Amino acid sequence: MCGIIGYIGKHKATPILVNGLKRLEYRGYDSSGIAIFNDGKIYLAKAKGRIIELEKKTPSNWDGNIGIAHTRWATHGEPNEQNAHPQVDCSGKIFVCHNGIIENYKELKEELIKNGHKFKSDTDTEVLSHLIEKNMRYGPELAIAKSLKLVKGTYGIVVLFANYPDRIIAARNSSPLVIGIGNGERLIASDASAILNRTRNVIYMNDGEMVVIRKDNIKLFGFNKNQDPSAFQGLNISKRKEKVEWTIDSAQKNGYPHFMLKEVFEQPESLTNSLRGRIIKNNGFAKLGGLEEIKNRLKKIDRIIISGCGTAYLAGAIGKLMIEELSGLPCEVELASELRYRNLPASRQNLAMVAISQSGETADTLAALRRFKEKNILTLGIVNVVGSTISRETDAGIYNHAGPEIGVASTKAFTSQLAVLALLALFLGRQRNLLKLDGKKIAEELALLPQLCHHVLIHSNKMAKAIAEKYKNFNNFLYMGRKYNFPTAFEGALKLKEISYAHAEGCGAGEMKHGPIAMIDENFPTIAIAPLDSVYDKMASNMEEIKSRHGKIIAITTEGNKKIKHIADDWLYIPKTLEMLTPILAVIPLQLFAYYMGVSRGLDVDKPRNLAKSVTVE
Ligand code: AGP
Repeated sequence: MCGIIGYIGKHKATPILVNGLKRLEYRGYDSSGIAIFNDGKIYLAKAKGRIIELEKKTPSNWDGNIGIAHTRWATHGEPNEQNAHPQVDCSGKIFVCHNGIIENYKELKEELIKNGHKFKSDTDTEVLSHLIEKNMRYGPELAIAKSLKLVKGTYGIVVLFANYPDRIIAARNSSPLVIGIGNGERLIASDASAILNRTRNVIYMNDGEMVVIRKDNIKLFGFNKNQDPSAFQGLNISKRKEKVEWTIDSAQKNGYPHFMLKEVFEQPESLTNSLRGRIIKNNGFAKLGGLEEIKNRLKKIDRIIISGCGTAYLAGAIGKLMIEELSGLPCEVELASELRYRNLPASRQNLAMVAISQSGETADTLAALRRFKEKNILTLGIVNVVGSTISRETDAGIYNHAGPEIGVASTKAFTSQLAVLALLALFLGRQRNLLKLDGKKIAEELALLPQLCHHVLIHSNKMAKAIAEKYKNFNNFLYMGRKYNFPTAFEGALKLKEISYAHAEGCGAGEMKHGPIAMIDENFPTIAIAPLDSVYDKMASNMEEIKSRHGKIIAITTEGNKKIKHIADDWLYIPKTLEMLTPILAVIPLQLFAYYMGVSRGLDVDKPRNLAKSVTVE
């Protein structure tokens, strides 16, 4: 997510804004920018990379006491100065910082260009600057409201006008904004951590609200997109003022004790963003803009090789089953650290390679990708970081839009990868023999995922914590699953290993009797991922075999499965969904269990020992 801060008051705005951006660095970003009103005009500076690069571009004589600033996490357009915010209109008098995604920006941009507007960036945000310019005859407040009426998507925006230097105007729809009320100064920010050193007195904006901020007062309005903006209702703010008790550190985690837990709980939102605008329910189709240019080549492929590392590889192992089930395409999944040394298949005319990587910088995945590119094999990326190396080197791809993942453990990125792979499987299936009726069912189930994910979080969090407390002194765990939850078992084991340092291994449940069951006794618990699916009966037999050897069982199963109480020692439920989507829900209790095991051992769950968030070395 991007970081936003605005200031108006009696002090120099520049240092306050730059320091505020530094407190937003934890959100992850690739570039930044600042606009300051000074001596009758607005001065603008932007920089790619760290905030310090921006600071070098803000001269000490920028004495203005009003300004806005932004750290960008790219969603549309490469990370560079041109695409950094604030984005400016043609007149050079309207400066906009934005957090969120404008879904219909292409249509709006085309219309504006037809009306003579000149664009300088590849961002969706710049559309707002020109829309506001187009509506300026109504005055700044109505110009913003009329412009936002046309926007589909999410936004938290702050706007600075050269012709109205006594105010900052902000509006919110889904992307958080908080107003700071200081002594003779007012601030606005995307989260409280940016402004806590100035004031703890805040007002949290709600969706559909706009605020006009002056140095000694604020006017809050409710604006309904369906009403004429002139029908604004001023809102009473007396009951809205709150005092932030958090420290800056906890404010950055939005009140969660760790980034990992925050990101586990962000999954309903990250799944919403990953699926946004990509599910076409009425004809059971997946709309993937990033594949548009190669869709005809994709129609011809007859084989896919998926590759990645760690959790990304395990997502690929689940994606393989999805693609084979929906499209009938033979699909292999390979560890990138091995694939990069393999002889590539001779017949590769109709082969496609899919590289999965949250960071887009993993050395082994990049090396494997480059082997395929050397042979002119079609390459696709499923990447979270926009503009990352892998995203730039693949022929096409699908961005996760999961937002920055700060915790070293991959949590929301994993479920986002699975959701995107399900979309890809649907896309490929509907290009082939998958019936519209079946596609519609899958599309409908996909659309339900964010709320099902929320349901799992609410109903399993406490239980996962209690189970972790019960097993915190165990040091060996077996995770087992079958079919779609075979890779899920390995992902659960990976989470536990990297967060709690306990020994954990994944195992295909069908493999138990071929060796692993020899390890089982009362000191070696098993986590069984056993939703009520096509292989549940087999899983139930595996659990019985473990039980008869005094092995303890923690089961993940479908709500309503009462029999589990007679088999397992502990259990966590997930709601019913399509078999191929169960890993997206089943992994959540596993993430929570790993998190609470790490916390119960007093470990740094955000930065586990020996690990890096992005393994850019081999
Ligand atoms: C997962 O929890 C680990 N942090 C690690 O396995 C990670 O998935 C792997 O390094 C791949 O990273 P990438 O997705 O950024 O390529």
